[in-house]
Amino acid sequence: MQTRTLGRTGPTVSALGLGAMGMSAGAYGEPDRDEAIATVHAALDAGVTLIDTGDFYGMGHNEMLLGEALRGRDRDSYLLSVKFGQLRGPGRAHGGQDGRPAAVKNFLAYSLNRLGVDHIDIYRPARLDPAVPIEDTVGAIKDMIDEGYVRYVGLSEVGADTIRRAHAVHPIADLQIEYSLLSRAVEPSVLPALRELGIGLTAYGVLGRGLISGHWNADRAAGPGDMRGMSPRFSAGNVEHNLTLVDALRRIAEAKGCTVAQLAIAWVAAQGDDIVPLAGARTRVRLAEALPALDVTLTADDLAEIEKAVPVGSARGDRYPAAFMSSLGVGN
Ligand SMILES: NC(=O)c1ccc[n+]([C@@H]2O[C@H](COP(=O)([O-])OP(=O)(O)OC[C@H]3O[C@@H](n4cnc5c(N)ncnc54)[C@H](OP(=O)(O)O)[C@@H]3O)[C@@H](O)[C@H]2O)c1
Repeated sequence: MQTRTLGRTGPTVSALGLGAMGMSAGAYGEPDRDEAIATVHAALDAGVTLIDTGDFYGMGHNEMLLGEALRGRDRDSYLLSVKFGQLRGPGRAHGGQDGRPAAVKNFLAYSLNRLGVDHIDIYRPARLDPAVPIEDTVGAIKDMIDEGYVRYVGLSEVGADTIRRAHAVHPIADLQIEYSLLSRAVEPSVLPALRELGIGLTAYGVLGRGLISGHWNADRAAGPGDMRGMSPRFSAGNVEHNLTLVDALRRIAEAKGCTVAQLAIAWVAAQGDDIVPLAGARTRVRLAEALPALDVTLTADDLAEIEKAVPVGSARGDRYPAAFMSSLGVGN
């Protein structure tokens, strides 16, 4: 397994991480529990060392599932990246973000318990809490590092100004943010800031949540409990256009002898060795497709051809429903 180091101060991790969100209800429909656990095991056995979760994924379910899957494994053989702070009500209603220092420590205590571990490797607020200075939230994580419960501070979906303020309190290991051929908003200001400060990037949504995986089609409606049913990019009128971009990618992938998903992951990985793509695989079959993406080498000509097939800004529809766009540090 190839490795990459997250920024100047962060850990060295597998060059592809596993995102566990889809393994709990509330993301991509009802998951298969046994298959999800088998997928985590297959990822670890293949050398994946970075596993990403959130305490709000399935409202604690995701962490408990990972706790079960990771039981008995050497704690030093994997790194847990955990997002916190997104509030939920019964029925999964969104209730904003809580970044208050006391809340941070409370969230952490519950996460450690659900995961069954004594520390979390990278701990990050899922979104900026507009009511709490980022310095206070990061300061609370720093306290938890001092007490040995956390190893590194991460951020998620924030802009360059917040990154700078947070980094001044404690070195940030990585920013987790959506980055794919369809979502390139990080490029103008966020990536340069990360590189200036020596912060890594873990990229999520590298397959556009399945849209540019090569496995989506316009007739495939998102089922119950599948958030893609609310995603503008998957909505009728937009999805047809977005799938024409996938057709163009498929032609390039076929010529390269890889799949569309592998090409899309390889494109993200090729944007810099400070970037670690996360694969949201929830089955062994999807994982087995994602892993060889690390072996797809894209030449300058390949990159230019891909760029021509899917130019910046060519995706139709926002990357989140309108109500959530304002909580992001950058746009589409
Ligand atoms: N920081 C944040 O705000 C944030 C937000 C969202 C996600 N994340 C993290 O990033 C991870 C990945 O994000 P994501 O799941 O939204 O995006 P993604 O990796 O772009 O999309 C995952 C979806 O793509 C489909 N897929 C098709 N072929 C695949 C393949 N070969 N490998 C993997 N997936 C394939 C899967 O669908 P089927 O299983 O239905 O086939 C899955 O539902 C999440 O698990 C989570 O840990 C972070």
